[in-house]
Amino acid sequence: MNYITIALAKGRLAKTTMKFFNEIGITCPEMEDPNSRKLIFTNEELKLKFFLSKPSDVPTYVDYGAADIGVVGRDTILEENRKLYEVLDLGIGKCRMCVAGPAEAAERLKHHELIRVATKYPVIAKDYFYNKKHQTVEIIKLHGSVELAPIVGLSEVIVDIVETGSTLRENGLQVLEEICDLSAKIVVNQVSMKMENERISRIIEDLKTVIGRAQ
Ligand code: PRP
Repeated sequence: MNYITIALAKGRLAKTTMKFFNEIGITCPEMEDPNSRKLIFTNEELKLKFFLSKPSDVPTYVDYGAADIGVVGRDTILEENRKLYEVLDLGIGKCRMCVAGPAEAAERLKHHELIRVATKYPVIAKDYFYNKKHQTVEIIKLHGSVELAPIVGLSEVIVDIVETGSTLRENGLQVLEEICDLSAKIVVNQVSMKMENERISRIIEDLKTVIGRAQ
């Protein structure tokens, strides 16, 4: 039997996902050792492998078939824009992708002025402004703490994830427009879905039952 490989976006999401897997009888005790520097973990009995990667790399591993299944946020899926099957919404990590900025920026947004948009998500920002709003903007790519940009005058607005809204509030910013809802998803490689349909479908179906219970 071949191994089925599962890529998890490391961090909080991976921990919650492993709880779901444990509930359906898929365990990987090796993964729980906080001191371990190991990157890949095997369950020999079930012929499964798990690995943790940077969230933005999960769609790449799944697209190339280096992982059959991936667990990652919809923000990353949209930004990476790869050909993957999106098979299940885990209903965790719920948040929104928003345009945010100081209250004064609302008028400039409304009048389609040529504003600067700082973001970790240039693909999502471009799609929203160019394809949905038909608005020309300048997109500035950042790698984190994007809320800084309008405060120090790098941009008028940001496109970023808003969960509780406290980062915005504490920095004098607010949601100006909502782009889409986000949550964690299970994605599957298109070839794996055909070749290992029975085993992958079984995992997905089992996960559905525990997710239903968690919500
Ligand atoms: C994310 C996001 C916001 C914040 C939103 O940042 O980019 O900054 O969380 O959460 P809130 O609405 O609950 O305040 P993250 O912690 O991932 O760090 P980063 O900004 O450095 O990417």
